[in-house]
Amino acid sequence: MIRVAVAGAAGRMGQMVCAAVDGADGLTLTGRADPVLDTAVADVLADADVLVDFTRPDTALDNARAALAAGVHVVVGTSGFDMEGLREAARSSQAKAFFAPNFAIGAVLMMKFAAEASRVMQRAEIVELHHPAKLDAPSGTAARTAELMAGDVPIHSVRLPGIVADQEVVLGDVGQTLTISHRTIDRTSFMPGVLLAIRRVADLPESPTVGLEHLLE
Ligand SMILES: NC(=O)c1ccc[n+]([C@@H]2O[C@H](COP(=O)([O-])OP(=O)(O)OC[C@H]3O[C@@H](n4cnc5c(N)ncnc54)[C@H](O)[C@@H]3O)[C@@H](O)[C@H]2O)c1
Repeated sequence: MIRVAVAGAAGRMGQMVCAAVDGADGLTLTGRADPVLDTAVADVLADADVLVDFTRPDTALDNARAALAAGVHVVVGTSGFDMEGLREAARSSQAKAFFAPNFAIGAVLMMKFAAEASRVMQRAEIVELHHPAKLDAPSGTAARTAELMAGDVPIHSVRLPGIVADQEVVLGDVGQTLTISHRTIDRTSFMPGVLLAIRRVADLPESPTVGLEHLLE
């Protein structure tokens, strides 16, 4: 049994992760940390093998640091935090860290196809669309997509009610465009990726590992 604690357990993603862990074979939910639940991350680490963090850009790194310092592996889904800080913390810990800007398989494929297309077509721009409560812009997925693509790729951020997490990569060339589009219908789309990361984080050859694609290959 892998013992799992969730940081941000009362949030939109955290609640889903708790339910997914609860229903998964070989995993047991041992802690729910969230200020809303009056439980700090420090209170759940002693009973956990893995901490999953879906919190805020300004708290995710501190949570990850606390987990790694306590010898607890950490799976981070929060976007917009300082990756260099995570790299530093991972260097001085036996415990492993994993971060994915997007845990949905379709988004991982979108990033892969966009990277491939950018090596052939002249120019590209990214439009990312999210719900208005999202704190960071551009999204972690858009930033990562641009990083993987060739050339300088501008990102446009849209925040509107009714949207979960969508992205379009539009590529242009002589007399044509190509649009690669991913739409998140429901946050359940992220759960298979989160469960996979929880199961694999302890055995990662590299820490931190960034991107779900590394667990799928
Ligand atoms: N990687 C992915 O696939 C993916 C998918 C969706 C969302 N996200 C990211 O996940 C993060 C959370 O998104 P959300 O929509 O669930 O947000 P949310 O606001 O619904 O939930 C965040 C929760 O974190 C709690 N929190 C704040 N500080 C905390 C701390 N120090 N310790 C523990 N909990 C704390 C809040 O009280 C809140 O309940 C965001 O950064 C979002 O961009 C990533």
